[in-house]
Amino acid sequence: MSPSSRSIVDELNPLMAQARAAALYAYAPYSRFRVGAALRDARGSVYVGCNVESASYGLTVCAERNAIFGAIAAGAERPFSALTVTCLDADQPFTPCGACRQVMAEHLAPDAPILIDGLGEYRIGDLLPLAFSLDVGQ
Ligand code: THU
Repeated sequence: MSPSSRSIVDELNPLMAQARAAALYAYAPYSRFRVGAALRDARGSVYVGCNVESASYGLTVCAERNAIFGAIAAGAERPFSALTVTCLDADQPFTPCGACRQVMAEHLAPDAPILIDGLGEYRIGDLLPLAFSLDVGQ
């Protein structure tokens, strides 16, 4: 990891701690895979999310999307300037799913660091090149 990446990781340590705390609230009785995410908005406010599963498995919503949607519903200022994500139960570093990457591409600033616990720091363009978008000017 380069020295500049190291300082971003250090700067985002408190935000990662908030993702870990959010993961403790995960409702994941089927997968036993507790995920947490924390977001910083354009004003510096922090919002968190965890995964919430359903007995009808396909209705499950991931931690990252719950964080983003909950933040917007709570009046957050887009675009988001940083996101951290963690899984408390993964044997190997966990990476966000494709659906969450698509939603991140819509709501995160292109230069926003995405810190993946145990792995490092990425930009949405690294995680989802050529993301789908509709130019609606918002
Ligand atoms: N999950 C997330 O919360 N985020 C992801 O990016 C991928 C998967 C959750 C969904 C489900 O509750 C559990 O992890 C296992 O797939």
